[in-house]
Amino acid sequence: MITQDPDRLTVPPDGRSHSEQPRWRQDFPIEWAQDNYVSRRDFTRFMVLTSLAFVVGQFVILFQSILRRNQGEPPRQEIASVNEIPVGSSQVFHYPNERTPSILVRLDESTFVAYEQQCTHLACPVIPQPETGHLHCPCHEGVFDLHTGQPLAGPPRRPLARVKLEVQAGKIYAAGVEEAFA
Ligand code: FES
Repeated sequence: MITQDPDRLTVPPDGRSHSEQPRWRQDFPIEWAQDNYVSRRDFTRFMVLTSLAFVVGQFVILFQSILRRNQGEPPRQEIASVNEIPVGSSQVFHYPNERTPSILVRLDESTFVAYEQQCTHLACPVIPQPETGHLHCPCHEGVFDLHTGQPLAGPPRRPLARVKLEVQAGKIYAAGVEEAFA
């Protein structure tokens, strides 16, 4: 049955009237004036689901941090030799467990920093940019201070978890994690 409601009439792409359209197009209209309303509904659904995913992601990260804090300090672990990491370069390692990628960066002759590599927004890996003094998250253009791990720009609000370092006899060790609850 053909409806007379103008809002519910199909708008054929070739501009011909409804009665001139082939039967298949009458049965399966491609475009309706009401498409705008459907799109708005889809957009709202998308926004709700995206927000929900964001909230769940934040809770997962927070839960992992609390869980790990309650497990106590992780054991000391050798990461690399000092002479393996030239100034301005970095190395990925796993700490405090095999599932957690972290990144070691040498800032100058005697300064090393290390952070867990998961962005505190939605856990994408951050990339060090020693030339600008930043860690960059390419997922949503998040920026962290390379010297402190504090968020500087973009969606992240919490600092990166900092891996405590010890340098002894030419070796660099990870010796605990400072959690990012700020
Ligand atoms: S995951 Fe969104 S800015 Fe890093």
